[in-house]
Amino acid sequence: MMNIQDVFNRYQADLQKAEGYMAAALRSDVSLIPQVSQHLIGSGGKRFRPLLLMASASLCGYEGERRHPLAAVIEFIHTATLLHDDVIDNADMRRGRTAANHVWGNAASVLVGDFLYSEAFQLMAKYGNLEIIKVLARATNLMAEGEVFQLVKRGDPEISEKEYLAIIEKKTSHLISAACAVGALLADAPEEKVAALGRFGLNLGFAFQIVDDALDYTAKEEEFGKVIGKDLDEGKMTLPLIRTLSRCSEEERQRIRAVVTDPARNETSLLAVFELIRRDDGIDYAMNMARAYIDDGKRELAIFSDQAPLQDLLTLADYVVGRKI
Ligand code: IPE
Ligand code: IPE
Ligand code: MG
Ligand code: MG
Repeated sequence: MMNIQDVFNRYQADLQKAEGYMAAALRSDVSLIPQVSQHLIGSGGKRFRPLLLMASASLCGYEGERRHPLAAVIEFIHTATLLHDDVIDNADMRRGRTAANHVWGNAASVLVGDFLYSEAFQLMAKYGNLEIIKVLARATNLMAEGEVFQLVKRGDPEISEKEYLAIIEKKTSHLISAACAVGALLADAPEEKVAALGRFGLNLGFAFQIVDDALDYTAKEEEFGKVIGKDLDEGKMTLPLIRTLSRCSEEERQRIRAVVTDPARNETSLLAVFELIRRDDGIDYAMNMARAYIDDGKRELAIFSDQAPLQDLLTLADYVVGRKI
């Protein structure tokens, strides 16, 4: 059985080249730009989307140079969103470090995020093609739309599971889908393969965010690199909580409502909500749904013949529901 580390090792040389494109793009006479971006990019991150792009390209028979700048593009779009997301979520910690917004302030995070987006556009214009630009432009636009939708639904105890899924599809699934589709597009793969890899990535993306939302309740801070319990504390309505709201008594629902709508919610009331989530199996429910998305995603790859990159993608898919970080 392969694990994520094996996949990481197989693409290590490629990832290093992608990192080279990232480092080159971050040079600027305005020193705040390399400072803020290196704080985040240099502190790790799983490089999950670049790995998907590399493996998808290999699966479709492309092992050329343009994978590296495009892997940098996908990671830049992701990183830009993290900078913005941490401002919106008032995050304290990211990748085990103080979040950039708490080191340099919100304005710096927003502006450097914009810088990363525009670097990504420059790189994709140089190394991509029209189809690739279309896919990445759409994913970026949907992410922004998803974050706005999420903002609207913050603290709304009436949010439905369907709305939650619509939010995560936009904010997370489409970029992960784009990573896979771009790999296939680099290979000039037939439409059927581009679409299959795109659907594979879309399913992985749903699972990825659902697991992230479960880990927000269950992970260890030292491993996850982010503050635990942050979503509830910020009134963010995620699947474990939405599930619990649909199962608990009317009296309990009122209590949860009071907590998510009260900006001054305290430790004791948060713990009471955690307890209800635990009792109603909100975490198991979320993890089961994530596993179902992974199974659906893997099925999309049935059209490909068995070869090393296929195993890499299947390993990355399993990693999504096994990860602790
Ligand atoms: C975090 O993404 C944001 C989500 C979509 C949940 P990752 O979990 O891929 O973050 P890094 O890049 O590894 O830090
Ligand atoms: C994912 O949502 C953020 C993006 C898609 C940018 P979260 O708010 O859950 O991500 P984390 O937990 O801050 O990484
Ligand atoms: Mg966040
Ligand atoms: Mg999260």
